[in-house]
Amino acid sequence: MKAKVAVLGCGRPSQKWHLPTMRELAKRGEIDFVALCDMDEPLARKTGETYGVPWYASAERMLDKHPDISVVDIVTGDPTHHGIAKMIAERGRHVMVEKPMALTLPCCDVIIDACRRNGVHFEVAENYFRMPKQRAIVELIRAGILGDVVRVCFVEPKAQRSFEQKATHRGLTRPFSKFGAYSGMCMDMGAHRLSQLRFYAQSEPTQIAGTVRRYRSNPDIVHEDWAHALIDFESGAVGIYETSRLGEAPKYCQIAGTLGGILDTDYFGPDIPLRLRMGEEMQDIPVRTERRRIDGVDVLQRIVVHTDPEIVYENPFRHCAINDWCVGHASEILSIANAALKDEPPEYGIGGRKDVEMAMAIYESSLHGMAPVQLPIKSMTSYERALHEDFERQYGRPIDKV
Ligand SMILES: NC(=O)c1ccc[n+]([C@@H]2O[C@H](COP(=O)([O-])OP(=O)(O)OC[C@H]3O[C@@H](n4cnc5c(N)ncnc54)[C@H](O)[C@@H]3O)[C@@H](O)[C@H]2O)c1
Repeated sequence: MKAKVAVLGCGRPSQKWHLPTMRELAKRGEIDFVALCDMDEPLARKTGETYGVPWYASAERMLDKHPDISVVDIVTGDPTHHGIAKMIAERGRHVMVEKPMALTLPCCDVIIDACRRNGVHFEVAENYFRMPKQRAIVELIRAGILGDVVRVCFVEPKAQRSFEQKATHRGLTRPFSKFGAYSGMCMDMGAHRLSQLRFYAQSEPTQIAGTVRRYRSNPDIVHEDWAHALIDFESGAVGIYETSRLGEAPKYCQIAGTLGGILDTDYFGPDIPLRLRMGEEMQDIPVRTERRRIDGVDVLQRIVVHTDPEIVYENPFRHCAINDWCVGHASEILSIANAALKDEPPEYGIGGRKDVEMAMAIYESSLHGMAPVQLPIKSMTSYERALHEDFERQYGRPIDKV
C-alpha cells in the first residue's frame, strides 16, 4: 500500500524542493504522486506537463476528481495555510502545511481542530531537523556526547542591507498592516531556528524575552529588521536567537555542553565542527561522510562521528537521487504518508505550533518592553490581536473564521 499524495501550490519552494522530491519518491515506489494544483492556471498546466500528472487550478476540483487522494501537501503562502488545510481536512484528507504552520496560534488551532473533527492527521513541513547533518547532531546530543547542554544559540543574518544614515529604531507596534506572502523574520526563518533550538536543548521553553526592531523609515515595511531573544528552557539551558537584515552581523549556530560543543559558522554546509574535552584540552573530533552518485546526484550514504561510542547516521534515502537538503523534504512527505497509511501521528505535527508559539512570545515580549512571556501561551496575545484586527480591517472578515 502506498499513500496517494497531491501537491497544492506550485510556486518557488514547490518547484525547487517538494515536486522533484515527490517525483523521486514516486519513482522509487514510496508514494503515488497523483495530482497537483495551483490557482495560477498556466503555472499549474506547465508544472503538470513537466511532472506528467493531472493538474488543476482549483483544489476542490482536484479533490472531487481524485477521491483516492489521501494526503495533500500545501505549499502556499503563510496566511493561507489554515484556511486551505481546514478545507482539505473537511474533505477527509490528511494535510501537511509548509512552515510556519499559520500566522497566529488561533490560526494554528483552526488546523488542529479541523483535523481532529474530521479524523485526519496534520504534519508541518519543518524540514531542517530532518536533514542528515541535523539528525546526526541531535543524535550526538541525545547520546550525551556533549554532556549537559547549557547554551544553544542561533545568530542568523539574512540579505543584509545598509542601515539608513540616521538609524531611528521603531518598535514593532502594528506589525503587519499588509497580508502578503511573507511573515517577519522571527516567523519566516525563525520557525526553523526556534525548532532547532528546542531540538538542541532537548527541552521545552518556559519563558522568552525579546526585542523586535524596525529601523527602516519606509512605512510600507511592516516587518522587523532585527530581533534578539533569550529563551529559558525547562532543562536549565539558555537559548539565544538573533536575526537581522541590516548592517554587518555574524552568522553562527552554537551548542555548548559540559563535555564539549559545536560552533558552526556554516550551518547550511555539511561539516559538523565538533570539539570535545579530552583531559585538560579541547580537541577536534573527526567526522567522516560516505557518498555516492545516483542518477547524477551526490547522495549521502552515512555520517560517522568518531566519538566513543561512534555515532552513525544512515541516510534512509541513500538509494534515491535525493540530495542532503531534500532528505528533509522526503522525510516530511513520508511522515504524513505513513501517518495516513498506518493511522499513527506524524513525526512533527504539534511541533509546528510550538515554533509559532515561540515566535509569538518574542513579538509579545517586544511589545511589552522585553518583559518575559511565559510558555505555554494560555490566551491570545496582544500581538496576535493586533494582527487579527489588521486583517479584519483590510479584508472585512475575521482571519480565523474560514
Ligand atoms: N521549508 C522551507 O525551507 C521553505 C522555503 C521557502 C518557503 N517556504 C514556505 O513555503 C510556503 C510557500 O512559499 P511562497 O509563499 O514563497 O511560495 P510562492 O508564492 O512562490 O508559491 C505559492 C503558490 O501557491 C499558489 N496558491 C496560493 N493559494 C492557492 C490556492 N488557494 N489554491 C491553489 N494555489 C494557491 C500560488 O498561486 C503560488 O503559485 C510559505 O509558507 C513559505 O514560508 C518554506
